[in-house]
Amino acid sequence: MEVKTKIFKIDPKNPEKYLIEQAADLLIKNGIVTIPTETVYGLAGNALNKEAANKIYMAKGRPSDNPLIVHISDKEDVFKYAKDVPDTALKLFEAFSPGPLTIVLKKQDIIPDSVSGGLDTVALRIPNNNITLSLINACGFPLAAPSANISGSPSPTEFEHTYKDLFGKVEGLIDGGKCNVGVESTIISLAGDKPALLRPGGITVEQLEDIVGELEMDKCILNKADKDFVPKAPGMKYKHYAPKAKVIIVKGNNFTEFINKNSNEKTGVLCFDGEKKLFKTKNVLEYGNEVDSNAQAHNLFNCLRAFDEMEVDKIFARCPKANGVGLAVYNRLIKAAAFNVVDADKIIGKVSE
Ligand code: TXA
Ligand code: MG
Repeated sequence: MEVKTKIFKIDPKNPEKYLIEQAADLLIKNGIVTIPTETVYGLAGNALNKEAANKIYMAKGRPSDNPLIVHISDKEDVFKYAKDVPDTALKLFEAFSPGPLTIVLKKQDIIPDSVSGGLDTVALRIPNNNITLSLINACGFPLAAPSANISGSPSPTEFEHTYKDLFGKVEGLIDGGKCNVGVESTIISLAGDKPALLRPGGITVEQLEDIVGELEMDKCILNKADKDFVPKAPGMKYKHYAPKAKVIIVKGNNFTEFINKNSNEKTGVLCFDGEKKLFKTKNVLEYGNEVDSNAQAHNLFNCLRAFDEMEVDKIFARCPKANGVGLAVYNRLIKAAAFNVVDADKIIGKVSE
């Protein structure tokens, strides 16, 4: 069913109060509205209302066992929605919030099962965006918000992406400009025996370990989820972040030779800054300097979406360094590639033998 969608263009530096109130009004009436954050755009509804949560799942085409992150504006509110909160959780909020960090804690009963996907935990985050913080305050309730893309496609990092995916499906779309970080928040669980990293993001493992000590790494960050690897963040088991074309990550020094040998006019190449001239195909996008993981994170989803607009059926991607913020870039890219990684040095070696 087509929904009437209102668009709000709001100034991120100085959010117009009357626009925030109008968007809040839609949320108060259990509508769903896209929100800008520093990571990616979210699709928000009242986190305390199961009807709003169900609308989010419907609009995204998202499986309902995949819980939603609950966005709050103030760390004091942690205690309203979570229980048995360890000191380390408060230290993490103190150090990194507002910012690209989500903390999984035991949930209070006020969080409906539809928001927590039936789990006894809740994922809490304070986003670093004036528009969204003002909106949460104007609503007087927290906002449940997954990324504002159709399930499976790359997360939206600018308003135009949310318009393409969700116009006519949601009550409101906020245009708050581009997202800085470009990949979704880091998720840490403090609800189990040991602190565990469930999803890498803009806050790095090193930054977290300074506060919580050694982190367990969910195996599904770097491995395919299957019966042996069941991810602790349910969303990590679904195919993710994928453009329409097949993505293949290319490792090794002989990447230019390998890619050019295997390219035709329908091949895309995702490479680092300055490398465009190396490739024969015209469908080349540079996603940041080879040593600049922040730039790669900022541009990755935008590039994956841009390939959808080109007539490509295959994308070769240069392999990012998987440390610091680069771990988040690598994690999103291997999922987009459905774990399809080739080593150009080995393959080229074999061909010339
Ligand atoms: O940066 C972000 O986190 C963005 C913006 C909008 O805040 N949101 C986002 O939401 O990425 P989403 O729904 O696309 O991803 C949330 C991930 C999913 O993999 C979900 O399974 C996991 O968080 N998650 C949510 N609640 C959880 C919980 N209680 N326990 C474990 N994982 C949880
Ligand atoms: Mg998502």
